[in-house]
Amino acid sequence: MERINFSLLRNKAEKEIKRATDLEELNVIFKKYLGKKGIITQILSSLKNLPKEKRSKIGRQANLLKSIIEKEKEKREIAIKKQIEQESEKDESIDVTLPAKRPETGHLHPLTLVRRKVEKIFESMGFCVVQGPHIETEWYNFDALNIPKDHPARDLWDTFWLDQKRNKEKLLLRTHTSPVQVRYMEKHNPPFRIIVPGRVFRHEASDASHDIQFYQVEGLMIDTDISVTNFKGIIDQFLRKFFNRKIKTRLRPGYFPFVEPGFEIDVQCFICQGKGCSTCSQTGWVELCPGGMVHPNVLKAGGLNPKNWQGFAFGMGLDRLAMMTYKIGDIRLFYNGDLRFLKQF
Ligand code: DAH
Repeated sequence: MERINFSLLRNKAEKEIKRATDLEELNVIFKKYLGKKGIITQILSSLKNLPKEKRSKIGRQANLLKSIIEKEKEKREIAIKKQIEQESEKDESIDVTLPAKRPETGHLHPLTLVRRKVEKIFESMGFCVVQGPHIETEWYNFDALNIPKDHPARDLWDTFWLDQKRNKEKLLLRTHTSPVQVRYMEKHNPPFRIIVPGRVFRHEASDASHDIQFYQVEGLMIDTDISVTNFKGIIDQFLRKFFNRKIKTRLRPGYFPFVEPGFEIDVQCFICQGKGCSTCSQTGWVELCPGGMVHPNVLKAGGLNPKNWQGFAFGMGLDRLAMMTYKIGDIRLFYNGDLRFLKQF
């Protein structure tokens, strides 16, 4: 075996250990000297081939260097760990002088904004805002509204029927807000004026102007001496306040089983000022609000005597109002939760 310069080896090892910047590097260096095939390990295992006097001398020196390297490695390991700790503390420390991050706040959905505006206007005209259930009985959704079973008029409302127990009344997701008319009549004495904003459901294919859910605002005014004039007057007043300008409307006949006579109120198209464009299908008018004088059978279903009471009802599409307000071309945008759309309001 050639002569081994232990002091040179020691200097070299110490220098390398001190220079190690992380634990991985330190381990590599340690193994270089004391691993299975490390320099010192090899010296120690070759001792047996040496003559006796050399064996003990070199053995002592090798063992001394081994323990020095082990100690140096331990020291360096502690130092590296401490440094890592200090660095992570530095990362976590709070700089109180830093300006705060602005928390992201949400805001109201466009349909909620429009609903609130509608409620405010009707409240200013003496209407109360009331609610009804989304799950309805067949009676309130159809029969009580003068739509007999098996009558073709029922097909106007594609219905989501719910699973039910045998012999129990059939349940459905309400297809319109009109059932709340009868629910309210049952529990309150006229005269009254209510609006019923709420979600309704239809079992039909969706497209840019239809979705399986949307919002309606039902209106009902019952008193002793109410006529079509009141109906048109209230709607005109509402539209003027809602769109904040004079709006031209027209009344034309429409069929709904729960009103007689029944009407459609159309507004003159704002886009083309009545000249005809794609929004109004070249007619100059946009259908906005069906309604009419409450049918005597509906008053009876609600427990009111048609000889004493009369009134009007209507059912406006809230989504349609919102689409006109914000010039939105597709109703489905309201319901698909796309933030790129919602953040614009
Ligand atoms: N409920 C009707 C629908 O969903 C809309 C409607 C028409 C409501 C006439 C009324 C009304 O109150 O009088 O298609």
